[in-house]
Amino acid sequence: MSKQSKDYKARAQELVSQMTLEEKALLLSGNGAWTTHPIARLGIPSIFMTDGPHGLRKAQGLNISESVPATCFPTASSLASTWNTELIQQVGAAMARECQANDVQLLLGPGINMKRSPLGGRNFEYFSEDPLLAGQLAASYIQGVQSEGVGTSLKHFAVNNQEFERMVNDSNLDERTLREIYLPAFEIAITQAQPWSVMCAYNKVNGVYASENPLLLEQILRKEWEFEGFVVSDWGAVHDRVKGVLAGLHLEMPGSGDVNRKKIIEAVNAGQLPVSRLDEVVGALLAVVLKASESRRSGARADLEQHHVLARQVAGESIVLLKNEDHLLPVDVGGKKKIALIGAFAKDPRYQGAGSSQVNPTRISNAYDELVALVGGSERIGYASGYDSEGVTTAQLLDEARQQAKDADVAIVFAGLPDSHESEGFDRASLDIPEGHNRLIDAVSQVQPNTVVVLMNGSAITLPWVGRVKAILEAWLTGQAGGGAIADILTGKVNPSAKLAETFPQRLEDTPTATEFPGLNQQAYYGEGVFIGYRYYDKKNITPLFPFGFGLSYTTFAYSDLTLGAQSIKDTDSLTVQLKVKNTGKVAGKEIVQLYIREDRPVVSRPDKELKAFTKVALEPGQEKTVTFTLKRRDFAYYDTTHHRWTVNPGRFDILVGGSSRDLPLRKHVQVETTQVPVPKLTRESMVKEFKNHPKGKAFYPQLKNVIMGSFEEPTPVKRTPREEYARKKAEMSTLVFVNDMPAYKLIAFSEGKFTEQMLNDILAQVQ
Ligand code: BGC
Repeated sequence: MSKQSKDYKARAQELVSQMTLEEKALLLSGNGAWTTHPIARLGIPSIFMTDGPHGLRKAQGLNISESVPATCFPTASSLASTWNTELIQQVGAAMARECQANDVQLLLGPGINMKRSPLGGRNFEYFSEDPLLAGQLAASYIQGVQSEGVGTSLKHFAVNNQEFERMVNDSNLDERTLREIYLPAFEIAITQAQPWSVMCAYNKVNGVYASENPLLLEQILRKEWEFEGFVVSDWGAVHDRVKGVLAGLHLEMPGSGDVNRKKIIEAVNAGQLPVSRLDEVVGALLAVVLKASESRRSGARADLEQHHVLARQVAGESIVLLKNEDHLLPVDVGGKKKIALIGAFAKDPRYQGAGSSQVNPTRISNAYDELVALVGGSERIGYASGYDSEGVTTAQLLDEARQQAKDADVAIVFAGLPDSHESEGFDRASLDIPEGHNRLIDAVSQVQPNTVVVLMNGSAITLPWVGRVKAILEAWLTGQAGGGAIADILTGKVNPSAKLAETFPQRLEDTPTATEFPGLNQQAYYGEGVFIGYRYYDKKNITPLFPFGFGLSYTTFAYSDLTLGAQSIKDTDSLTVQLKVKNTGKVAGKEIVQLYIREDRPVVSRPDKELKAFTKVALEPGQEKTVTFTLKRRDFAYYDTTHHRWTVNPGRFDILVGGSSRDLPLRKHVQVETTQVPVPKLTRESMVKEFKNHPKGKAFYPQLKNVIMGSFEEPTPVKRTPREEYARKKAEMSTLVFVNDMPAYKLIAFSEGKFTEQMLNDILAQVQ
C-alpha cells in the first residue's frame, strides 16, 4: 500500500471513530443518482461520479440524454483494436482532464467483461474475448485516468456477460472457468493499476448476487488481489443491503433514501452486523472520498480541441483493415479519381453505443465532409444514402446507389449496425447487419468492381458479401472524430495498424454459445467452460471468418530469429523471449506482435494456445527491431481445482509468435520443471491410486491394494495352460483397475471387515 493511501486510511479511520451509527449508514448509500453524502459536521465532502467509459457523461439526473458536452472517444471494442496501451493511457488522461474541468471525481469505467458471445448487447463497451488483452488495456486506461487525480470504477465485477434479464440472471460456471477466463482481466487491472473503485455486477454468480458475494468481494478482491479501494453497486444492484455490507459492498448507488439505511442501523442494533465490520467498510469508502476530494483541481480546463485531435488519432489506430485485394486501398486522392460514397453512415455515422455510456459529443465529424476536405472539394465525390435510419432500403435508393457507383472509379459503402440493433439493456438477436445494408453492398458491388466497405458496429457481425468486395475496413464505433479517422485511412494518410480483439465467426452456429445465448429462465450455464473466443474456434478446429489478432496494413512485416533465454527452466524462473520484426514494404507502419503459449500435454483440457504477451512496434520501411518479452510462472499455469491454486504441469510448452492467432510463423519450445508440487491431502475418500502417487501414501499403497489383489498372490507357482494364464492375467488387470479407482474406505466392506476401520485410520494418521 502506498504511503498516500495509508495516510487517507488513517484519516478515514479517525473520522469513522467520530461518526454516529446514523452517519455511517448515511455514507454507505448515495445522495441521489451520482454523488455521495457529505457530512458537514465532520467536514466530510461529497464526491461526484459519472459514466464512462469512453467519455464523460455528466448527467443532470437519471435522464441520460442530457449531459454536459464532452469528447466522445471510440468505444472499447475500438480502443481494444489498437492494442496500444500507451495510447489508451493518453485517452484515459484526456477523459480525466474533462472530469476535472467538470468537477467530477470518479469516472465509471472501464468495462472489461469478456465477450462470451458476439451477441452480447454491451460488447461495444467491452474490450475483448481475451482476459490478458482486456486486463492490460484496462490497466493502462486506469493509470491514465488516475494520473490526473480522477478515480475509476472497474466494471462489472463479475461474470456479467449478457444483457437479457441482467438484474436477476445467474451466471453458473465452474471454478476453473471463473479463474482462467472471467477473473484475470480484473485481476491484472487491479494488481497493476489499483482502480479507486470496482463496480459489482447486477447478476448472480453461482447463485449469489455479485453485490453480496463474499467469495468475489472479500476473498478474491480484497484478500487475494489486495484491492484497496471501495466497491460500488451497479446502479440498482443491491438486494440485501446488510448481506452486502457483510460481504464487502461499500457504496449503494443510486441512493435509496432511508430504505437501506434503516436496515443497516437495525442490523447493527440487533447484533447481526458487527460494528467493527461496518467501520471497516465505511473507512475504506471514506479513504477514497477524501483522496478524490483532495485531488480536485478547481478551475481546471480541458483542451477540447486537442482532445478531438486525440480522438481522431485513436480512431485511426483502431480501424482494422480486413481485406485489401489488388491494393485497392489507399485511394489515390491526388489524381483524377471519382469516388462514390454510399450509405447514410457516410454523412450520419454511428459512432457510439446506446445506454449509460452515451456521451453528448463536443462535435461530430463524418467521413463525407472529411473526404471532401482531404480531396479539396466535392466535385469528384458522389453520394447516395442507400438506406434509412433503420437500415431499410428501397428499389429507388438502390438505383441511386448503383448510378453513383457506376459513375465513379471506386465506391465506398458505409454499413453496419443501426442504434436500434445494439445497446446496453438487450442482447443482439442476430449476427447479421440489416438486410438493407447487405442488399446495398450487393447492388453496388455488381456494378462497381472497386468496392470498399466501411463498417460501423460495436461487435462482430457476418459479412455475406465478403468475397464480392475488394476491400473492407472495420471502423467500429469510432467516437466523434471517426469521420476524419476513416478519411485518413481511406486515403493513406494513416496506415492501418489495428487488429481484431475479438473473433469474427463465419456464422452464429459456429460460436461457443450457439446452443443457448442469452441464458433463459434467469439461468446462464457456461457449459463451454474456458473455451470462448479463439480458444473455442481453435479447439473445435473451426475456421473463423477473421481470426482473433488479425488485421492488415498497407505495408508488410517479416518475423525472424526467435530465441529463448533457455531451453529448460524451473517454473520459478522467468523466460526471456526475443525475436525480430521487419517492415518489408514501402510505407511506415505499426505491427502488433503477439506471443501465445501452448502446453504440449496438459493434464486438464486446455485451449490449444493462449495469448500471453503482445506489443505494438512502429517501423519505417526496411527497418527491423528486436522485440523482447519476459514470461513468468503464471503464463504457463492453469487453475488447479483440486488444490484451488495456479499450478504448472511439468513438461514441454510451445512458444508461438506472429501477427495473428492464426498466423504464428515463429515457434520454439521450452521444458518447464515444476518446483511447487502440491501435496494432496489423503482422506478415507481418496482413491487407492492416489496413495500410490503421494509422497507419504506410496509406502502404504501395496498394503491397500493387496486387501483385494492379495487373492492373486500365489505362494507356490501354479501350472496353467497358456489360455488359463491369459484369462488370469486379464482378470488381475481389470481387478487392479477396479481397486485403484476405489475410495479407500470401500476396502473395509469389500474385505468383509478383514481390513478394518482402525487399520485405515492408522494409515491416514501416518500420511498427513
Ligand atoms: C450500468 C453501469 C453504469 C450505471 C450508471 C448501469 O445501468 O450497468 O455500467 O455505470 O448504470 O449509469
